[in-house]
Amino acid sequence: MNRTIRVALTVLCFVFLISSRLISQTTYDIQLLPPAFKNNATLMQALQNRKSTRSYIEKELSLQQLSDLLWAANGVNREASGKRTAPTAHDEREIDVYVATAKGLYLYDADNHFLTLVLKEDIRALTGKQKFVKKAAVNLVFVADYDKIRGKRKSKDFCSATDTGFISQNVYLYCAAEGLATVVRGWVNRERLAKKMGLRKEQKIILAQTVGYAK
Ligand SMILES: Cc1cc2nc3c(=O)[nH]c(=O)nc-3n(C[C@H](O)[C@H](O)[C@H](O)COP(=O)(O)O)c2cc1C
Repeated sequence: MNRTIRVALTVLCFVFLISSRLISQTTYDIQLLPPAFKNNATLMQALQNRKSTRSYIEKELSLQQLSDLLWAANGVNREASGKRTAPTAHDEREIDVYVATAKGLYLYDADNHFLTLVLKEDIRALTGKQKFVKKAAVNLVFVADYDKIRGKRKSKDFCSATDTGFISQNVYLYCAAEGLATVVRGWVNRERLAKKMGLRKEQKIILAQTVGYAK
């Protein structure tokens, strides 16, 4: 093989690799947008409007809304330390936020503000026992990784429950400020959902939270 053909083949392989990476990013994973720090409501107004809603229409969130929602929920707000918008005991950051949409199930990677596709399937209906869950744009599933928490089982239960509560309230306040509807939910078939999500034994589903447009 002469040198020109070898160079041409190398360039072709390179182009193929780059384009397949780009295609996989656009078709499957989602690069989220930086948070838009717009002034949509004061904190006091968001607190005034915080509430649970159980009636939704089928309407997707924009990429900016999805990005802001996840950043508000548990994004990195201090680059140097990687610390989050929600506190965790011992800064263990054990709560993973999974995102179930019509397009699939994603895992929020806070460090890269990125959604990694876990399942290319609409599993929204499995995220709760109430009818509205399959209609709403997004169902968040808060999963504690017990391998990341120190202490005994009782302490792990306590920390993962309280740490999830902070994330959930961040979601409530973001939704109140953005005019979106939400409800946190404990009524979930955890065994069935964990199986579908392919979770390890030490990964525990704590709560789910629906986000979308109210009917
Ligand atoms: C830990 C927890 C679990 C909850 N589980 C559910 C649930 O499974 N389904 C539901 O519709 N609401 C659920 N809720 C929402 C409560 O019912 C709601 O917060 C309460 O009725 C007060 O209403 P408000 O949020 O509008 O103030 C849950 C709330 C919490 C804090």
